Amino acid sequence: MTFEEMAKARYSVRKYSDKKVEDEKLQKILQVANLAPTAKNTQCVRIYVLKSDEAMNKIKGLTRCSYGAPVVLLFAYEESEAFCYPNQEVLNSGAEDCSIVATHVMFEALEQGLSTCWVNVFTPSEVEKAFHLPPTEHAVLLMDLGYEAEGNTPAPRHGEKKALREIVRVL
Ligand SMILES: Cc1cc2nc3c(=O)[nH]c(=O)nc-3n(C[C@H](O)[C@H](O)[C@H](O)COP(=O)(O)O)c2cc1C
Repeated sequence: MTFEEMAKARYSVRKYSDKKVEDEKLQKILQVANLAPTAKNTQCVRIYVLKSDEAMNKIKGLTRCSYGAPVVLLFAYEESEAFCYPNQEVLNSGAEDCSIVATHVMFEALEQGLSTCWVNVFTPSEVEKAFHLPPTEHAVLLMDLGYEAEGNTPAPRHGEKKALREIVRVL
């Protein structure tokens, strides 16, 4: 598949089968995630692979967007490694770095026949506490990863896209 074909084929999956994610596939996905660029190549992103019963039970209590995937990836960043924008005391590249790494995961997962759903409906401090992240690591997003349940279909609005003229400004 070309990248365009993959981008067209991807959609968020919110219903998963019980089939486990093979370790080799998970490993490959993580290796591809590690190829993603990061600001100044600081590689501040941390990926927590949540798959134990204990971790899954915790996830259910931490987000209403828990869709029963056998694996949930928690993307966080280490603040001491994130790129700090000049003249900005608060903003750093952590969330952007997590986003591009997670995007690599989305598409490598698709390549491996797996599905994903990006989730940001959670309270970062609660997630950080539940999974004992060091105080300098900040949770950015969760990503469900697994095989799509039989009969699942994309959400009705999946195909709705604004016209390019609404989002592109050529100056
Ligand atoms: C930054 C971001 C945050 C998202 N957060 C959630 C979420 O918390 N829960 C959820 O069910 N889907 C979430 N999604 C999935 C979007 O709702 C979904 O990508 C969008 O509706 C388009 O649908 P599609 O992915 O099927 O094309 C998120 C997606 C992105 C990119």
